[in-house]
Parts: sequence; C-alpha cells; structure tokens
Amino acid sequence: MKVIVIGATGTIGAAVVKALAARKHEVIGASRRGELRVDIDDAASIRAMFARAGEADAVICCAGNAVFKPFAQLTDADYALGLRSKLMGQVAVARIASERLRDGGAITLTTGILALQPAPGSAAISLVNAGLEGFVRAAALEMPRRIRINAVSPPWVTETLIQFGMDPGPGQPAAEVARAYVASIEGAEQGKIFDSRRS
Ligand SMILES: NC(=O)c1ccc[n+]([C@@H]2O[C@H](COP(=O)([O-])OP(=O)(O)OC[C@H]3O[C@@H](n4cnc5c(N)ncnc54)[C@H](OP(=O)(O)O)[C@@H]3O)[C@@H](O)[C@H]2O)c1
Repeated sequence: MKVIVIGATGTIGAAVVKALAARKHEVIGASRRGELRVDIDDAASIRAMFARAGEADAVICCAGNAVFKPFAQLTDADYALGLRSKLMGQVAVARIASERLRDGGAITLTTGILALQPAPGSAAISLVNAGLEGFVRAAALEMPRRIRINAVSPPWVTETLIQFGMDPGPGQPAAEVARAYVASIEGAEQGKIFDSRRS
C-alpha cells in the first residue's frame, strides 16, 4: 500500500514509518519540516499535501499538538491550540482523505490514553482525545467508497517519558505502539479505537 504518514519524524511517527517499511509498504513521510510539507492546523496545507503526494491508499496521522498543564493554569489559548491542532487538524485530515484516498483506503488518527484514563494536568488533552474518539466512531458510519477510519490510542511512550526525565516504567516503546497503526491499515476494522497495549 502507498501510505502517507503525517508526523513521520516524531517519536511515534518514526516508529510507524519503520514498521510500515519493514512490511514493504511504500511510505511517504510528511510534517511541517519534512520531505512532504504539511501543517495539519491548516486545511489548505493538507489539500496541497494530498495533491503533491498523488494517489494513496492510506493516511496515518501521528501529529497534533495539545497542552499538558495543571487545570488552574490552562489558558484559553492552551485549549484553543488542542482544539485547532490535535482535534480539528486531524478531523480535517480525515475529511480531506475521505475524498482523496483510493477506494477501500484507510485513515488512522492518533488519540491517547488520557481520553479514558485522565491524569492531573490532562484536562485539555483529555477533552481533545475524547472528542477524536467520538468523531472516529461516528464518521466511520458514513465513510464513502469502502474507506475505513480508525484511531490508535497510545499510552505514555517509553521514549517520551525518558525525554521528559520521567520514570519510563509505565511506558510502551514506540516500536510496539507502531504495531497498532500497522494493524489499523492492514486489517478490516472500521471505527475502532486501537489500544496499542492490546494490538
Ligand atoms: N509520545 C507519547 O507519549 C504520546 C502518548 C499518547 C498520545 N500521543 C500523541 O501522539 C501524537 C504524536 O506524538 P509524538 O510524541 O510522536 O510527537 P513528537 O515526537 O513531538 O512528533 C510530532 C511529529 O508531528 C509533526 N508535527 C507537529 N505538529 C504538526 C503539524 N501542525 N502539522 C504537521 N505535522 C506536525 C512533527 O514534525 P514537524 O515539527 O516537522 O512538523 C513530528 O514529526 C500526538 O498527537 C500526541 O498527543 C503521544
């Protein structure tokens, strides 16, 4: 399959690219500064990315920004970033991909464990992740041309915890998280939220 991976240079995205390449998929990496430029906060940029990439079978989005900060310190701008970027950015990717992917194509978005297992500091991210999961389940009911839409919900990633100087114990290595994205594009699921710890 020809797969566009948005966020291909990130912790999760780089592992997804590696896993897909190992399965002999043709992978095109995209990000704001990547080989294929895209800013998911800007729908025109997403359209331009699909036009430059040409026909594709699948898109995976491992990008989207949101703020982790104590509830009392979250500002309007912090909430707005998560809504504009991780939530509506990925919604825009899905909407445009549903028009551009080949028949039977696959869209995979990224949510996160904080949708269902919140933590102090996660209010803005939990809001966005829960919204994304509702969107994926509902949009799946109306996908055209046998296109499938799913999302992967990673826990904290080991490499991210190490990067932040936190205990990596509860984390899942990015290479294991990546398996859920592969399952999402290679399988037949529709409207599923993949828990990467069970994929
Ligand atoms: N890491 C974790 O522990 C964890 C756990 C659960 C969920 N998640 C979610 O997984 C996603 C990826 O996380 P990550 O840790 O892999 O992130 P990351 O290491 O910071 O990488 C983010 C990637 O996305 C790209 N990017 C950022 N903003 C973008 C935008 N507006 N448009 C297009 N590309 C953009 C970055 O490249 P450029 O800078 O070149 O654009 C980079 O390739 C996020 O949505 C995050 O919330 C992460």
